[in-house]
Amino acid sequence: MKKIIDQLIKINDMKHILIISIILLFVAGCNNTDQKTSVFEETGTTSSENMKHVKQELVAPPAIPIHEQDVGNDDQVIVDVKLVVEEILLEIAPGVKTWALTFNGTVPGPLIVVHQDDYVQLTLVNPASNTMPHNIDFHSATGAMGGGDLSIVNPGQEATFIFKATKPGVFVYHCAPGGIMVPIHVVSGMNGAIMILPRDGLKDERGNPVKYDKAFYIAEQDFYLTKDANGKYKEYDSPAAGFGDLTEKMRGLIPSHLVFNGKENALTGSNAIQAEVGEKVLFITSQANRDTRIHLIGGHADLVWLGGSFNDIPVTNYETWPVPAGSAVAALYQFRQPGKYVYLNHNLIEAILLGALAEINVSGKWNDNLMKQVKEPGLIGK
Ligand code: CU
Repeated sequence: MKKIIDQLIKINDMKHILIISIILLFVAGCNNTDQKTSVFEETGTTSSENMKHVKQELVAPPAIPIHEQDVGNDDQVIVDVKLVVEEILLEIAPGVKTWALTFNGTVPGPLIVVHQDDYVQLTLVNPASNTMPHNIDFHSATGAMGGGDLSIVNPGQEATFIFKATKPGVFVYHCAPGGIMVPIHVVSGMNGAIMILPRDGLKDERGNPVKYDKAFYIAEQDFYLTKDANGKYKEYDSPAAGFGDLTEKMRGLIPSHLVFNGKENALTGSNAIQAEVGEKVLFITSQANRDTRIHLIGGHADLVWLGGSFNDIPVTNYETWPVPAGSAVAALYQFRQPGKYVYLNHNLIEAILLGALAEINVSGKWNDNLMKQVKEPGLIGK
């Protein structure tokens, strides 16, 4: 480089300077391109044979497994995950019960966290006490049916398969046992998400490292319940007994309930999420079956990884961000003010009438510089 600059100084002819500058710019541009990993490249060549197994302790959402971003640690592992299917009668609103088909007894199923190029070894257990076949389709997996064909289990069976987590981002998983049972199982609660962290860590819009203090998994779930002649939501003796009514209601496409984390007010009041001023909070939100759009009343998304892709540059300062059906999206916000925030689907009819909202209580010191009351509400002109 020094030689080139010396040469540049010696050259008085501006035309030559211009040509050399263009060449330098071109070389710099080429170097940049070289540093990026193409999405078509298979990342890592190691096979999972003899790789270390690490068991992941799954937790009920909105909590997510304890983890580190582990930047700079290139040791791939096999992450062992066990999901047990539970068919449960779930109260999704006061006095309203429906048969929920669940992974590990929660709607959504637990968030799984791994790093790019780790392997996920998934065991799906369908206890004999259940009534129907289930399986799991990972949107993050590469291969036929996302593992669905390898994991179909009847009551009393279990199956295990392994896949390489090649794509960094957040992705939905869901049950997909075939035909009409696919939407039935998904709208009965059988979906969740996985977060695959990039090996070199999350980056902001300028390529700087991004850390988060807390992370929460919030999923929107649409339920399609039918009322009886008295206007009361029907209850059934088994999941299958309600499938006829459910199918009819699904054809209308309008859910009876649209809730965050399985039931009305699952994340409000005493169940609200807690945070502090200054904390950077990562919100992972999925919707397995329906489009939604998320807004944080009183705040923003500082960063949003649209489509859930951590390989892309995040967009900044969104007021409302989309979560298309069958996807998970990650957004990060640093809280600047204390108080109650509402995290909701900003179709306000769906949020308020159907239930798609959560609350976040933020403690800390108020910043007058960002907002303050100038005049209390009072009579006009007084
Ligand atoms: Cu299922």
